[in-house]
Amino acid sequence: MAYGLLKGKRGIISGALDENSIAWKVALKAKEEGATFTLTNAPIAMRMGAINDLAKQCDAEIIPADATSVEDIENLFSKSTEILGGKIDFVLHSIGMSLNVRKGKEYGDLNYEWFQKGLDISALSLHKFLQVAEKQDALSEWGSVVALSYIAAQRTYSFYNDMAEAKALLESIARSYGYRYGKSKNVRVNTISQSPTKTKAGSGIAGFDAFYEFADKMSPLGNASADDCANYAITLFSDLTRYVTMQNLYHDGGYSSTGISEELVTMIQDQHK
Ligand code: NAI
Repeated sequence: MAYGLLKGKRGIISGALDENSIAWKVALKAKEEGATFTLTNAPIAMRMGAINDLAKQCDAEIIPADATSVEDIENLFSKSTEILGGKIDFVLHSIGMSLNVRKGKEYGDLNYEWFQKGLDISALSLHKFLQVAEKQDALSEWGSVVALSYIAAQRTYSFYNDMAEAKALLESIARSYGYRYGKSKNVRVNTISQSPTKTKAGSGIAGFDAFYEFADKMSPLGNASADDCANYAITLFSDLTRYVTMQNLYHDGGYSSTGISEELVTMIQDQHK
């Protein structure tokens, strides 16, 4: 059911790779809620082509941009305001990648060039988005910027490797820039800390399936789906959450506040029978 929450709003949505992507679901919901927006992804990701189908469904133009390139991001924001006919009301940052994770490097044997590249793609890119937007004065007053994070920013999950540092940095940038942009333009910046979700980025993590099940059993409501994550992002883009800023918001079915669940206790007891 649509509520018209984003009626008349203009946005930029990054990170829709295929139909499992969180950003893909956000785009469909944003369209449903009345927004117009541009889609963006790394030029290399365009080769998969799926984003063209999404663009058709959403009447959206695609502007390729490597999230590490300030020049690409400048082009992204200036073209988006031009195409959409005004300042941008909401931005989704849904970008993450660790070369060390992808290439199976352990935490005690990291390749530092890859580490820096991963930080650049997954975290500094949020700063770059915000700095470019601010310099171009591309965001509307009370605009909303949302990035996606994971609880490995607060607690150690060995398999998450150097992405943990990337997420900690991402959340810190959301706070620091949220302060700055809040002061100057009432723009709000938040991160959503999402449950494990079966996407390309998620499944790249070693032992993901076991962990997905663990988190599901640990959370009183079960893991939050990508569709529900999209619903939450829409509320943060809407005018109903105008005073929420500089927050890391858990969207995880209660996982982050649970010590241990009955299901897990029972599972462990059964092992000892
Ligand atoms: P996904 O693989 O569909 O999306 C990741 C996106 O990042 C892709 O579209 C990819 O093309 C893009 N990307 C990678 N390098 C880029 C670059 N240099 N420039 C521009 N874009 C680039 O996976 P998902 O899960 O939808 O990921 C979206 C966000 O959600 C990421 O920040 C991820 O860390 C976060 N997240 C994912 C969870 C999961 O379990 N899947 C849990 C919590 C957070």
